[in-house]
Amino acid sequence: MRFLDACRRKPVDATPVWFMRQAGRYMPEYRAIRAKASFLEMCERPEIAAEVTLQPVKFMAVDAAILYADILLPVRPMGVALEFLKGEGPRLAPPVRSPKDVARLRLFDPNEELGFVMETLRLVRRELAGRIPLIGFAGAPFTLASYLIEGGPSKDYRWTKLMMHGEPKLWDALMGKIAKVTSAYLAAQVKAGAQAVQLFDSWVGALSKEDYERRVKPWSDKVLAAAKKTGVPVITFGTGTTPFLESFAASPCDVVGVDWRLPLAQAWKRVGSGKAVQGNMDPVNLFLPRPELKKAVRAVLKEAGGRKGHIFNLGHGILQETPPDNVRAVADWVHEWTAR
Ligand code: CP3
Repeated sequence: MRFLDACRRKPVDATPVWFMRQAGRYMPEYRAIRAKASFLEMCERPEIAAEVTLQPVKFMAVDAAILYADILLPVRPMGVALEFLKGEGPRLAPPVRSPKDVARLRLFDPNEELGFVMETLRLVRRELAGRIPLIGFAGAPFTLASYLIEGGPSKDYRWTKLMMHGEPKLWDALMGKIAKVTSAYLAAQVKAGAQAVQLFDSWVGALSKEDYERRVKPWSDKVLAAAKKTGVPVITFGTGTTPFLESFAASPCDVVGVDWRLPLAQAWKRVGSGKAVQGNMDPVNLFLPRPELKKAVRAVLKEAGGRKGHIFNLGHGILQETPPDNVRAVADWVHEWTAR
């Protein structure tokens, strides 16, 4: 299959394409279901989560499906309450800031506590019947830690950085627990049917190169190494990674996801030729009129230069008001223009 072959840098008949956040509010079919259930209810009900996972697959020619779930789901079995507030994003309570807070976090069995995710994976695999592969995912330790410590989204990551620098032992204890939980969670997803896994480090770009290398990379690498052991291709994705892309890419993974801040050829040079690269069109380009959108897609493909191991994707997730027809057109163009 194209996507899995590209992950392994094998030859493909056309460049594979999928979109981060391909299931979501930009699709009318999604909003119809969402009108009747909360986001967390949708994740917890495998028939709904499976249906939503498959919506973009039915709508357009993507080369992979990605599990409908969220990077924050594991915080609840760890003992932290999670809500999604309209217009404000996720709220986690209580925030994890003291030694007592960290000690209280539970390690859990993902098959028991997040069994609905495993059931969703099994349902989707059955429905896909081998047509395209299914990607599982988890949040990377830094991004998860930032939500746990801040209690929600943050602009400056103040509490997170204060713990990292002020209480390095506590930081390591927290990152150790997150790494353990996440490694087990990804292994369970592969057992349940995930054919590749992606680690999302969406906010890692808030860090300096030095802090990333010293305080974060060892923990991300632990999770990636555990994921590698399952035998499926492993993708590591971050945004704002330009200052430390070499170190970010020098991890136990097959594919490196990059944002749009570097032209793809430059990014790939820094990642190294031994890895596949996923990306990297700016999601905002999906709002452009067709001629300009075509140019933006062509630009990414030109940068990739037909090299083995390119997976076309965005530099970050699809934005909420994106016109669905533009997304579908991009998937078709990528296939048409790269057919060999
Ligand atoms: O890519 C996919 O289609 C798979 C599903 C997926 C979701 N979230 C569904 C979702 C994936 C891979 C994620 C990952 C995720 N979740 C990340 C990392 C990727 C990234 O975009 O940076 C992060 C940081 C989160 C945390 C999170 N979940 C946020 C910040 C939000 C937005 C809150 C808001 O109100 O806008 C969510 C909610 C969320 N996750 C939605 C979806 C489809 C929207 C839920 C809804 O219908 O209201």
